[in-house]
Amino acid sequence: MRIVQIFGGLLGLAAAAASASAPPGYVQHEKREHQPARWTKLERARGILPMRIGLVQTNLDRAHDHLMDLSHPDSANYGKHWTAQQVIDAFKPSQNTVQTVQQWLEDSGITGVTLSDNKAWLAFHATVEQAEKLLRTEYHEYEDVHTGGVLPACDQYHLPRHIQQHVDYITPGIKLLAPEGIASSSHDIPLTKRGDSEGEIGLHRNSKSVARTRGPHVRKPKAGPPVNASDLSICDQVITPACVAALYHIPMSNLTSPNANNSLGIFEAEIQFWDQTDLNLFYANFTPTIPNNTHPISLNIDGGRAQTNYSDEGGPESMLDLELAYPIVYPQNITVYNVDDIHYQTWPNDTYTWGFNTLLDAIDGSYCTFSAYNETGNLANWDPTYPDPAFQGYNGTLQCGIFKPTNIISLSYGGQEVDVPIAYQKRQCLEFLKLGLQGVSFLFASGDSGVGNYAASAGGIDGPTGCLGPNYNIFNPTWPNTCPYITNVGGTKVYPGHNITEAQPESAVYDPSASNYSSGGGFSNIYPIPSYQAGAIATYFADHEPQYPYYCSLAPANATTPYDLLNITALAASDGNGTGIYNRLGRGVPDVSANGDNIATFIKGAFALSGGTSASTPIFAAILNRINEERLAVGKGPVGFANPVLYAHPEVLNDVVNGSNPACGTEGFRAAKGWDPVTGLGTPRFPEMLELWLGLP
Ligand SMILES: *[C@@H]1O[C@H](CO)[C@@H](O)[C@H](O)[C@H]1NC(C)=O
Ligand SMILES: *[C@@H]1O[C@H](CO)[C@@H](O)[C@H](O)[C@H]1NC(C)=O
Ligand SMILES: *[C@@H]1O[C@H](CO)[C@@H](O)[C@H](O)[C@H]1NC(C)=O
Ligand SMILES: *[C@@H]1O[C@H](CO)[C@@H](O)[C@H](O)[C@H]1NC(C)=O
Ligand SMILES: *[C@@H]1O[C@H](CO)[C@@H](O)[C@H](O)[C@H]1NC(C)=O
Ligand SMILES: *[C@@H]1O[C@H](CO)[C@@H](O)[C@H](O)[C@H]1NC(C)=O
Ligand SMILES: *[C@@H]1O[C@H](CO)[C@@H](O)[C@H](O)[C@H]1NC(C)=O
Ligand SMILES: *[C@@H]1O[C@H](CO)[C@@H](O)[C@H](O)[C@H]1NC(C)=O
Ligand SMILES: *[C@@H]1O[C@H](CO)[C@@H](O)[C@H](O)[C@H]1NC(C)=O
Ligand SMILES: *[C@@H]1O[C@H](CO)[C@@H](O)[C@H](O)[C@H]1NC(C)=O
Ligand SMILES: *[C@@H]1O[C@H](CO)[C@@H](O)[C@H](O)[C@H]1NC(C)=O
Ligand SMILES: *[C@@H]1O[C@H](CO)[C@@H](O)[C@H](O)[C@H]1NC(C)=O
Repeated sequence: MRIVQIFGGLLGLAAAAASASAPPGYVQHEKREHQPARWTKLERARGILPMRIGLVQTNLDRAHDHLMDLSHPDSANYGKHWTAQQVIDAFKPSQNTVQTVQQWLEDSGITGVTLSDNKAWLAFHATVEQAEKLLRTEYHEYEDVHTGGVLPACDQYHLPRHIQQHVDYITPGIKLLAPEGIASSSHDIPLTKRGDSEGEIGLHRNSKSVARTRGPHVRKPKAGPPVNASDLSICDQVITPACVAALYHIPMSNLTSPNANNSLGIFEAEIQFWDQTDLNLFYANFTPTIPNNTHPISLNIDGGRAQTNYSDEGGPESMLDLELAYPIVYPQNITVYNVDDIHYQTWPNDTYTWGFNTLLDAIDGSYCTFSAYNETGNLANWDPTYPDPAFQGYNGTLQCGIFKPTNIISLSYGGQEVDVPIAYQKRQCLEFLKLGLQGVSFLFASGDSGVGNYAASAGGIDGPTGCLGPNYNIFNPTWPNTCPYITNVGGTKVYPGHNITEAQPESAVYDPSASNYSSGGGFSNIYPIPSYQAGAIATYFADHEPQYPYYCSLAPANATTPYDLLNITALAASDGNGTGIYNRLGRGVPDVSANGDNIATFIKGAFALSGGTSASTPIFAAILNRINEERLAVGKGPVGFANPVLYAHPEVLNDVVNGSNPACGTEGFRAAKGWDPVTGLGTPRFPEMLELWLGLP
């Protein structure tokens, strides 16, 4: 029995009575329960069908162990990253699966069967009659009433009993690929724009309304000359590159010949472009050692464009990322991945997925067709599709595997776990794991709205408070941060009056003047606590019991639906007395933190203070890039997935023990000695981190 997710939010639970109608020796494999209103069933299909059989892949359950085996510092295989081909081979369907299904096709008179490059699919052409006989089904034509497009599909199909265990699913099958609109799905909440509140610059988005849940908090530009770039006594007011270097003891890079394979990767989307004039102003004022016109390498994916020519479309996110990272990594290069064509970047029906899958497709071609958790490839209406026939659309095909991933990728975008289908999240999380096996580190901003999402009044899309449940008070963890195979960076700040020569001048960030900005943190409702984090979380609960009632419950492992259909109330009520407001069984966020408030930037020609965990992330990413540089120089590999090392060696971080991350009508969690769900293990200590990683194989 399997769950079939019907787009448009309807959940088709496979009918229990199905096998009753199956022909002898056959079992029903998939059945559509609800007929999406958007589709009209027409006459029987005719002609030739391009058939694809997704084969059940092996070893997904061992993926976690594989990653730990090469990223835990105590493992004999530490640092022995895999090649892309080894990853494909480890997770491909078993030989038995391929042979059994091939034999069945051959016995059924099907010819011209090919195995896909990533070994996950069998493809062939069949007449409708052949396909109907093979799958004991009937194909009809379905018309999309919105576009007039017609495609073949069936309402259910069957497989021989001995074949079922080898097949994930078959297309054309029950899926009607252009789904119903977002408006009828769980996203039935208007996406609204944030960034116009007092003290912030509105993002110019061609009237696009977008729920930005990360992002720079840019204050109004300040008139007049900026601050003294080398004066460390101002770090409690303005964070300059000199302040970042002093806080984390980062010496200026002394590289004369940077490694050509170690450019720092930064992800951008949603009309966030970099501008050379702003970069030049920044260098001239703060980092005179960086030459005028230094700029990143722009890798544009599926029509993306990374650079702007000094206009109002310039993006504060991209400028913030570059102005934090360049002072740390220069003379090493920065590579900006900008995803999706202008039509999608300005699409009013924001899909809330930020183009992460567009990036993953481009840096790992096998992801384009990879199946897991009953999902394959990009999800229509959640991910952009190419070619894009729209005005300014990218008219090429989806770019798969066109770029080699950089060793580190910094991503300052994200949303909430509750708003993204679980199967979609898990497949994407598995991809972060697979790239981790290949030595790639993903660093994500942990979120800027504490233990919840933004309130509706501040642009949040999760109800009035941004928190869950009937009383709108259940904490709302961030996505994709709860994936256990990425490193999440929370935010800290130097509060007024603190001097950076203090042992720990930073506390958890909280800035009421910027939409109550506070460091995203909390516990997943989907992913269990990973092994590397178990001790840290147990200590937190033992030593610093949060003052709130909690629940102990995770979404069922086989859940694939959009999360809110699982009914968070039921989840929270499933343990204790139903008053719990946070989960005690989930993966904790963030892992580490770095400064993210009052950051000195030049944006749109003017000096401005900016911030966000958007700022914290490129700082941490740039530090790991410097560590990679030195590991590569002595013939070692990149650090790859960093969490197991960091959790085993918290002494290489400054423990942040003050502050909290307010939201949901609470002060949030409190920062405390040891790991906490506000600042993680703490902020970087560059020399100690470098020494630790240089000592690992
Ligand atoms: C946005 O979604 C609505 C509701 O599904 C639909 O009517 C509209 O055409 C969509 N707009 C675009 C530009 O796709
Ligand atoms: C800037 O600060 C440094 C260090 O405090 C100081 O030596 C220098 O004189 C200051 N420059 C100006 C122009 O005030
Ligand atoms: C910070 O501490 C240093 C060293 O103790 C001192 O010289 C400096 O004046 C202090 N700055 C501020 C702003 O208190
Ligand atoms: C360059 O800086 C690194 C720290 O980033 C240090 O380990 C190394 O010794 C320095 N090399 C030279 C030649 O100064
Ligand atoms: C940095 O990028 C530029 C432009 O692509 C290239 O010419 C240069 O060789 C790169 N430097 C390194 C160290 O990779
Ligand atoms: C960069 O990687 C390529 C292979 O991907 C390798 O041939 C080359 O030697 C590497 N360059 C350096 C400087 O390590
Ligand atoms: C930097 O380069 C730009 C464009 O080439 C030029 O207009 C500007 O004067 C230069 N600035 C400095 C400080 O050299
Ligand atoms: C695709 O786009 C390119 C560049 O914008 C244009 O020259 C070409 O005509 C387009 N092709 C089609 C089939 O629309
Ligand atoms: C429910 O349990 C929490 C502890 O989890 C406790 O604080 C609270 O008082 C309990 N409420 C009721 C009504 O029993
Ligand atoms: C999910 O698994 C549980 C327990 O294994 C089972 O009871 C339930 O029916 C499954 N749900 C679906 C929709 O398959
Ligand atoms: C995906 O489908 C397979 C085959 O029908 C089923 O066994 C499996 O439980 C499903 N996985 C999830 C996560 O629903
Ligand atoms: C959610 O669960 C609660 C508690 O089990 C129940 O009272 C409520 O009716 C459920 N809501 C929906 C929409 O299923």
